[in-house]
Amino acid sequence: MSSVDTILAGKYPAKAHARRVAEYLRVRGHHDGDGIIYLEAQKTRLIEDNDEPVPFRQRRFFFYLSGCLLPDSSLIYSIKADELTLFIPPIDPESVVWTGLPLSPDEALKCYDVDRVLFTTDVNSTLAQVASLSQGKATVFAIPEQVSDDTSFSPFSQTNFSILKKAIEDTRVVKDEYEVALLRKANDISAKAHTAALKAARSATNEREIEGAFIATCIANGCREQSYHPVVASGTSAATLHYTKNDEDLIDPVTKEKKLNVLVDAGGEYRTYCADITRVFPLSGGKFSTESRQIYDMVLRMQTESLAMLKEGVLWEDVHSLAHRVAISCLLKLGILRGSEEELFEKRISVAFFPHGLGHYLGMDTHDTGGNANYEDKDTMFRYLRVRGRLPAGCVITVEPGIYFCRFIIDPYLKSPELSKYIDANVLERYWSVGGVRIEDNIHITRDGYENLTTAPKTVEEVERLAAEASE
Ligand code: GLY
Ligand code: MN
Ligand code: MN
Repeated sequence: MSSVDTILAGKYPAKAHARRVAEYLRVRGHHDGDGIIYLEAQKTRLIEDNDEPVPFRQRRFFFYLSGCLLPDSSLIYSIKADELTLFIPPIDPESVVWTGLPLSPDEALKCYDVDRVLFTTDVNSTLAQVASLSQGKATVFAIPEQVSDDTSFSPFSQTNFSILKKAIEDTRVVKDEYEVALLRKANDISAKAHTAALKAARSATNEREIEGAFIATCIANGCREQSYHPVVASGTSAATLHYTKNDEDLIDPVTKEKKLNVLVDAGGEYRTYCADITRVFPLSGGKFSTESRQIYDMVLRMQTESLAMLKEGVLWEDVHSLAHRVAISCLLKLGILRGSEEELFEKRISVAFFPHGLGHYLGMDTHDTGGNANYEDKDTMFRYLRVRGRLPAGCVITVEPGIYFCRFIIDPYLKSPELSKYIDANVLERYWSVGGVRIEDNIHITRDGYENLTTAPKTVEEVERLAAEASE
């Protein structure tokens, strides 16, 4: 077994997560060693006017303290007793014939890192017992809108609905060994899927076939769900950051030739943990065109230089700024930009080509919790930066620079009396068909540096070799 599989053969560390959240609350003065954390799983919900359930996605706050993927469950963590109780749905005899026997409490106790397992019919009596142990003095912490109407907190003198969500969001930023193994597993499977997507281009005529190869490989290898809707964007569609149509022909309808490249931003989800990976590869002849290669090299350099800065405590704004400075220097060399590096940086001209943030935290959500983004920031360079401030050791963050040729974004610069002088429209003309290049890896920050969890092919040599094999 690989070291990842050895770690994952153990239980998801729910109890350690419960302790960390309780400690977060204690340090901030919300309890003095006594209190109750109460969380509910996502409910089973039916599609409107239909008896099929909507696709199930476990509530992340509940999963973090339970490791349990069952719907309609709940949990209580008693801080003083350090006791984690999971409540699972009882047997519904009407359902067994359709869906089989549900997990029993004994089976659940073997699966999950909890101290006891009861049925959800025992929630209120357990809450009452726990409250009486503290003579009703303990506070119950819960998340607004995530408590069923029939759950009763009346035995407690105090309820706190304002802090638990933020406490779990912030605690989730720093991953433990088990979570990093889950992210590594999601990455390993997604790397196989990216390779399969690249190879599928051999016979594909439409973006759909590339998306199909990606998803099939994820499912076959254990990622039943996608972290997010995959982006399979050929030609100029790659300039649309979250393009999700994924149904365009790979032949350009005007030139009748194969489009230059395809951008695939896709990742599988492994037991709620997400990979988020972007790769770009050439569609025709297995080789990047001159302009595509120039842009690919530029984005790779933006990423390599950003990665070299990473370690505990680095200011994410500094890394993002460096990526812009590399872009400016390269765009100047290509003749797309004109002016001095400093003036171009001060005037935020590179934002026309790199309009999004360098990356975001990654975990159970693709855009994971705790980044403290400031979407109101007046500074266009930082407005969409989803993480602000210093990176703690143990966080996992994407590093995903990109350069895009999007007319909607760039045209206003070309028409602006003040800004048009910074962009050479004639040189730019050669680059529109490149569409966009983004290269995205998932990075675990450590005290002295970082580990790259992403193993999908990335160098020009690897990508071109695979694309050439695919087009033989
Ligand atoms: N796939 C979404 C993102 O990269 O942020
Ligand atoms: Mn991302
Ligand atoms: Mn992505």
